[in-house]
Amino acid sequence: MAAFAILSALGLFLSSAHAQNCTALTPFAPLKVSDGYTAQVVLNGLKGPRDIVLDTAGNILVSEQRGAGIRRVVLTESDDGNVCVASSAQLIPDSSLNHGLAISQDGKTIFVSNMASVSAYPYDAEAGTVGAKKTVIEGMRSGGHVTRTLFIPSSAPDILLVSRGSDGNIDNSTTNVASGKSMIKAFKISELLASETTTDYATGGEVLGWGLRNSVGVGEDPSTGGIWSVENSADDIHRSDVDLHNDNPAEELNYHGIVKDAENPRKGLNYGYPACFSAWGPSDIPSNSGITVGSQFGGIDGTPFEQVTARTSLQDVDEFCRTERQGPRLVFPAHTAPLDIKFKEDGSAAYVTFHGSWNRNPPDGYRVGKIAFANGQPVASVTDTAAAEYVLQNEDTTKCPGACFRPVGLAFDKKGRLFLTSDQSGEIFVLTGA
Ligand SMILES: *[C@@H]1O[C@H](CO)[C@@H](O)[C@H](O)[C@H]1NC(C)=O
Ligand SMILES: *[C@@H]1O[C@H](CO)[C@@H](O)[C@H](O)[C@H]1NC(C)=O
Repeated sequence: MAAFAILSALGLFLSSAHAQNCTALTPFAPLKVSDGYTAQVVLNGLKGPRDIVLDTAGNILVSEQRGAGIRRVVLTESDDGNVCVASSAQLIPDSSLNHGLAISQDGKTIFVSNMASVSAYPYDAEAGTVGAKKTVIEGMRSGGHVTRTLFIPSSAPDILLVSRGSDGNIDNSTTNVASGKSMIKAFKISELLASETTTDYATGGEVLGWGLRNSVGVGEDPSTGGIWSVENSADDIHRSDVDLHNDNPAEELNYHGIVKDAENPRKGLNYGYPACFSAWGPSDIPSNSGITVGSQFGGIDGTPFEQVTARTSLQDVDEFCRTERQGPRLVFPAHTAPLDIKFKEDGSAAYVTFHGSWNRNPPDGYRVGKIAFANGQPVASVTDTAAAEYVLQNEDTTKCPGACFRPVGLAFDKKGRLFLTSDQSGEIFVLTGA
């Protein structure tokens, strides 16, 4: 009894001394958290939080899609281990910023993006201040997919990867690499910052991968330096006038090799779009001989497959897609919209946010998945429909997408806690046990 009373008194003292805001917040939507994990709402009321990174002082930087720029959140911890908000304030008040956010390895430069351009700001993590903006990449203005994901690999800290999606569902111009769309490009940060002119996206940098419809999530396996992306594939697809859209095409996990290697064999490969897609539900595909889960296939109505493949029969087009285009390493259910991928420090798992569908019935996605990795590659094979183990999801997906948790950005901190955003509900969570 006496010991309990003393501990309680000590606990109260510590929390009032160190934690400036530890109000327990209730999740917007009731959540199902898998055994071994805990999920806590750290902050709510944000305007569509999207990408999230941690600075060198352990503070959160987050982009807010609905016109609120970049926010900086200083964290503290209560004595019972809850993550608390010490302060939360707008850092960059630019309403055009809609997703992309990256921080240099030394923590002194922040990169942000809007639909058209990427800008850099000098940053002081302790003071929470930014210097003058410098626009470093431009020429990305196009409709359809408007986010421009930014990522700096820890194994290649002078490289800024910039992912730009297609203009619309099927963008025929992406058959030409010079379109500068549906690709991930690599730019040298030192050159961007030193240059007196702004680099054009389509003509500058190097193509890491193309034929990627809209690869919003980009991440690195820190144990190998391997770069991975998650691709949002096409809507409303038909083949020979048969509607196969509800379970096709698959969303994809693509591998891009090790960017720091001059001889990266994956550099510059084409991953298929807009001529080739991957199967999730092979039985719904007409003339499906040779097509299994994860196989690339083509012949989708309204796509330029004949021009790209120079073949006419579906069998021959599918053969081209399997052999002449780089296939995915894993596939996920159609339309589940993977938006980020981040790895555990030891390379044993990747976590992927599935923002959730609009183009299938019933809706699907709206959850966070774990993918087991070993020796730099997923443990599962491309035909595996259970490669992702879901660890955080809505209790009731029949309420989706309206009254749902919709995860977007992911960031591990130095303690291995996984921070994540949910744009629709305006929340930042911390997931432990990852
Ligand atoms: C504590 O956090 C909650 C949730 O974000 C916020 O509504 C409240 O204003 C904060 N209180 C203080 C004193 O910062
Ligand atoms: C793209 O190309 C295909 C095949 O030529 C054509 O059917 C389709 O109409 C084109 N799409 C657009 C938007 O021009």
